[in-house]
Amino acid sequence: MSYPHQITSLEQYHNDYRRSVEEPAIFWAEIAENFYWRKKWESVLEWNFIEPRIEWFKGGKLNITENCIDRHLEKLGDKPAIIWEPNNPEERTRVVTYSRLHKRVCQFAQVLVNNGVKKGDRVCIYMGMVPELAYAVLGCARIGAIHSVIFGGFSAQSIADRLYDAQAEYIVTCDGAFRGNKDIPLKSIIDDALIGNRTIKKVIVYTRTRTPVSMLKGRDVWWEDEMEYAETQVEKDNIITMPATEMDAEDPLFILYTSGSTGKPKGVVHSIAGYMVWTNYTFINTFQYKPGDVFFCTADIGWITGHSYVLYGPLSAGGTSVMFEGIPTWPDAGRFWDIVDKYKVNILYTAPTAIRSLMSFGLEPLKGKDLSTLKVLGTVGEPINEEAWHWYDEHIGKKKCPIVDTWWQTETGGVLISNMAGVTPAKPSWASLPFPGVLPLLVDENGIEVTEPDEHGYLQGNLCIKAPWPGIIRTTYGDHERCRANYFSAYPNLYFTGDGALKDKEGNYRITGRVDDVLNISGHRIGTAEVENAINMHAGVIESAVVGYPHDIKGQGIYAYVIYNHMHVDEELTRKDIFQTVSRVIGGIARPDKIQFVPGLPKTRSGKIMRRILRKIAEGETENLGDISTLLDPGVVAEITKGKL
Ligand code: PRX
Repeated sequence: MSYPHQITSLEQYHNDYRRSVEEPAIFWAEIAENFYWRKKWESVLEWNFIEPRIEWFKGGKLNITENCIDRHLEKLGDKPAIIWEPNNPEERTRVVTYSRLHKRVCQFAQVLVNNGVKKGDRVCIYMGMVPELAYAVLGCARIGAIHSVIFGGFSAQSIADRLYDAQAEYIVTCDGAFRGNKDIPLKSIIDDALIGNRTIKKVIVYTRTRTPVSMLKGRDVWWEDEMEYAETQVEKDNIITMPATEMDAEDPLFILYTSGSTGKPKGVVHSIAGYMVWTNYTFINTFQYKPGDVFFCTADIGWITGHSYVLYGPLSAGGTSVMFEGIPTWPDAGRFWDIVDKYKVNILYTAPTAIRSLMSFGLEPLKGKDLSTLKVLGTVGEPINEEAWHWYDEHIGKKKCPIVDTWWQTETGGVLISNMAGVTPAKPSWASLPFPGVLPLLVDENGIEVTEPDEHGYLQGNLCIKAPWPGIIRTTYGDHERCRANYFSAYPNLYFTGDGALKDKEGNYRITGRVDDVLNISGHRIGTAEVENAINMHAGVIESAVVGYPHDIKGQGIYAYVIYNHMHVDEELTRKDIFQTVSRVIGGIARPDKIQFVPGLPKTRSGKIMRRILRKIAEGETENLGDISTLLDPGVVAEITKGKL
């Protein structure tokens, strides 16, 4: 059985693609019929990329949780919505049926209301991967509060910046989170983030690790107490009924912060209806999900992949989503395969960095694991190298599972370019064809469309999109101009992705990586400017420049060139201090892999750092560094090359 809006043949793909371009309003109105609307839209799409202003399904009224939960209750009430695998495999699994999910989401929505949360308020969620995180996210959506999930690896300082930017008034957190053999003290990190904060009114704390926490009277409350009380309020005839707030199609659903080429993360805002339609449509089509399939997306809900394909995509399709609290290498490197075996997973969606890391353990961890239920494999987050692709294909998919290489971004809400499993052709390390509604364009630096193929017959350029799809970013929170400047100003009338790409004669796209100063570390975006700011905060650092370099597991590693003011001190210790500073300011994920102390940086006469040279040196190049004659002090290049790590 398939969904009415599922593309099931290559012919249908081409046909739907053509219709989505020729008659977008009719096409998307048909797709949107597959959802539950309190009131239908008045216009399907109004837009311009100048302001930008993008409105999908304007005038429509709905609540996304009614689409993700309530409408499935009658038929799927007893079916698992979420299967939760704890960090410790010895601990009990939790299976959350749609009925149970409904009950808990309603109950938590009541908790939010009891604590003063209203429609439009920003609720920051900083939790580990526990089912309660899903209840918190969906509880916000139920009452129209805007959730902003922050990944558990970010530091107190990063949280404080985000809380301030979002003007958040509420936090939902845990005492701690289990990740592998670590126990991360989330509440204590929140306490640090709240020093000096004036906006937060309430912090709701779920007990997970039993780590001792400080609870501030009047501000901090326990999840368990609040839920118990809410149960007495909303239960009628043994059913919890917290009515879903009727929302406008274009009301914001969430804010998710992401790095860019400037020093400060941006709060990407997605709105309700378009995001819902897009995550659902891309979920069922990319993975060719069929009712009853068990879908396992390994991403953390702190990232967009977790939002779209652990929660909203699968749940809006009435699917079963596996949510994993731990990490792929603990207690051993067979953990993903144990989970696939244990829950008879049909579709596995993970990142190339995870595949490369698991590959490095050889085939031993696969022994005795039954992977025969797998039908489809997926990857996301960075270009997948051919070696990893073939390993995934051979040892995990046993050469019988299509691999979908899904290219998309936090700003795109869901997949934009990908093959559809078994329906459109796969091409190793190519993301392949665009989704219906997605109109890619490759341009040169001047914004002129690239039409001349290179020596391999490929078009090569900066990847832009010509028109909005339903899941596109609407604004950056509190600063619409920033959204315009970041995505819609490089090339007039185009959305600029920040990525470079190739296109072959068949229309397939291959993403070659970022063309701006953004790094992709283990599939996570980190702006070089952000890391530099953090390094420069360390006492003694005069200046720094950060570039990426090829890293076997992470895809890219962080290479930092640092000018330090008293190099007579212990270099190793200083390095450790700088690591510590970056971890404090941003979080462990931005910690440089290499720090090289340098006497100066290659700068032009106008003071601009020539990153091209630094990148080449970090990549191990010593000879062909290009023209260095325009540098203020060309001699510095030889000094840097000499000290290369
Ligand atoms: O450079 C592209 C890379 O990841 C960036 C988006 O990062 P983020 O917003 O954190 O979202 C990651 C998960 C959607 C893109 O600009 N990227 C993502 N997927 C792929 C990719 N690069 C190549 N191939 C992909 N499949």
